[in-house]
Amino acid sequence: MALAGLFLISFLVVHLSINLLLLFDDSRELFNIAAHFMGTNPVIQVFQIVLFGGIILHILLGIILQIQNWLARPTRYKVEGYSHTSFFSKFMIHTGAVILAFLVIHLFNFFFKAKFGELETVMIGNDSYEDMGILVIEKFKEFPYVIMYVVWLLFLGFHLDHAFHSALQSLGLNHSKYTPVAFGISRALAILIAGGFILIPVVIYITQ
Ligand code: HEM
Repeated sequence: MALAGLFLISFLVVHLSINLLLLFDDSRELFNIAAHFMGTNPVIQVFQIVLFGGIILHILLGIILQIQNWLARPTRYKVEGYSHTSFFSKFMIHTGAVILAFLVIHLFNFFFKAKFGELETVMIGNDSYEDMGILVIEKFKEFPYVIMYVVWLLFLGFHLDHAFHSALQSLGLNHSKYTPVAFGISRALAILIAGGFILIPVVIYITQ
């Protein structure tokens, strides 16, 4: 579960970096070239299968872990609030479920359209590329989508807040001296990743 989670975090960093290209290059060329590379490179295609396997594994193990937790303590503590876990750590299964529901919508918005739909094409140099960028921009011109994505990405941030340090702990890498650092890295990743993603719909909506 921890390894799958760390792998998914690394996917998010790559995915965010590519998506941010849309904000820094109005011509969309950089984004379209990167999206084309990610969609056609054979090595990336293998990684994509590993990615979807990682997502499914992470979800299944998360559900099993949660059921084990519920079975271990079917009645709740009478007095809450004495555990040393962070606030969001108690809601990993809930935030995870919300992220999954939105992820399915997200895949229909973009991924399935890229894989199976007909996208507009643009010429970059002498080559023709699918204009994935315009698909994203058109979507985020619509206010309901912007709100939907911001809500989704806030939940992603809440989930990530407990993700990195928890994964290290599961791998046995906790240490009294370094654990606070891992907590800090977790929070920083949550803010940077969720905040970075949130910029995309918001900036596109404001500027386009
Ligand atoms: C503003 C935020 C986001 C934008 C604009 C965005 C955009 C895109 C686009 C354009 C694709 C299709 C790429 C292609 O198939 O060539 C895609 C695919 C995908 N996205 Fe996102 N995405 C965002 C956030 C996220 C988040 C937060 C997650 C995970 C929680 C995610 C997970 C995925 C997955 C799993 C795929 C399919 C695999 C892939 O194509 O790499 N995306 N996204």
